[in-house]
Amino acid sequence: MLKLRPDSASRPQPPLAQFRCAGPLESAYVKEKHSLWERAGRQRRVPLCWLVAGIASIVSVLAASHWARADNLPQQLGLHSGRDIYQAACAACHGANGEGTPETTTGFVPPDTFPHFNRCDETTPEYTRDWTAVVRDGGPARGFSQIMPAFSGVLTRDQINQVVTYLRGLCAEKDWPRGELNVPRALLTEKAFPESETVLTTTVNTKGPATVSNELVYEKILGKRDQLEVAVPFGWSHQNSGALSGGLGDIAVGIKHVLFSRLHTDDGKPIYDSTGSILSFQGEVVLPTGSVDKGLGTGETSFGVFGAYDQLFPAQTFMQIQAGANLPLHTQNVPRSAFFRSAFGKSFSGSQELGRLWSPMVEVVADRELRSGATTDWDVIPELQVTVNRRQHIRAALGYRIPINDTTGRPRQVMAYFLWDWFDGGLLEGW
Ligand code: HEC
Repeated sequence: MLKLRPDSASRPQPPLAQFRCAGPLESAYVKEKHSLWERAGRQRRVPLCWLVAGIASIVSVLAASHWARADNLPQQLGLHSGRDIYQAACAACHGANGEGTPETTTGFVPPDTFPHFNRCDETTPEYTRDWTAVVRDGGPARGFSQIMPAFSGVLTRDQINQVVTYLRGLCAEKDWPRGELNVPRALLTEKAFPESETVLTTTVNTKGPATVSNELVYEKILGKRDQLEVAVPFGWSHQNSGALSGGLGDIAVGIKHVLFSRLHTDDGKPIYDSTGSILSFQGEVVLPTGSVDKGLGTGETSFGVFGAYDQLFPAQTFMQIQAGANLPLHTQNVPRSAFFRSAFGKSFSGSQELGRLWSPMVEVVADRELRSGATTDWDVIPELQVTVNRRQHIRAALGYRIPINDTTGRPRQVMAYFLWDWFDGGLLEGW
């Protein structure tokens, strides 16, 4: 049995924390919330003093709006910092230090994706804009649980930014690369940011020899600054006989290490609008698993090395640079080669910067064999990446690769990828 009421409804400035549990369940808001959970089929508990402060604090905010204007309510209640707002409106569910409140107190079963804001490994890869959207619009707006309420009517945009900035500070270890530096993935240029994702890229020749090549890339964050990467190419090509023949290409296994990362956060500016940079190095081994006869492999074990540098400019504009070399163990049949890739782009989104993300980019890439007399082949790739689902962890990109010099025998290609950032949830979640 629960009654949520301010200590004194007539007092003009009641602190949010002073709501207490007593008497029968009366709050219409809590009843509505309760039936929502029932509809969602969640495990129900006798509402002892559940959500003692969690719902209570929201209810208090809503109840208090009877005697105070909603737009500056938290200020009227003496909540001036992100920390104050967090302790009053969030801590009951998310815990005093972001660790999460036990189920026995909150009365709800936390979803698998329930965040622990004090755990750097769970939180630093996240985008601030995603958190801001969840706080403003509630869990369901981003394909998360409806237990997470929307605060758009209660907190101003600045206050939401303040509380999200506070959440960002709950990870005490500062050397984790911050999610903002995870710029949109380009079709060819590899990012510096370590990720946990799976990407399937398909390339089809529109001119020149008919081939379809694919690459399935699996990436997994290992600790603070490292990432495992496995790339499995496969494809089909027209043989001299005229038949279409397919198979596996040369599989690559690599480790990426972040050498440097910095995000500049300006006071008063939303964090998702901040600037910064990140530099990584990757080493990989390419195994001769592909068939040479079918044109799917080199028949040689090679070592790959590259550096990747990403720069974030204001207003979600970014630049990515990657440069490296492919060094075969034996160079009789396969020459050493070097490559340079770069991508420039900007992200756009509606709903005050928190909606679906559209990221047009242009890539300029160059390849050159490391032998005398070789030419450098330059290509340009205009492309667009878009977030596909509500949670924005499924993304797709489409582009067109156009050779700009030495064009004889070099095909134009349509390239597309499908990306699943499985760190943020299952393939079928968040739609
Ligand atoms: C009634 C309990 C409750 C209250 C109060 C609450 N939250 Fe949540 N919040 C949740 C739950 C449950 C989830 C997990 C949703 C999921 O993973 O499906 C969540 C998720 C989140 C997320 C994570 C989204 C992600 O990307 O993983 C953020 C950020 C967040 N809450 C911030 C806040 C802030 C800030 C406040 C206070 C202004 C707040 N929450 C108040 C229950 C609550």
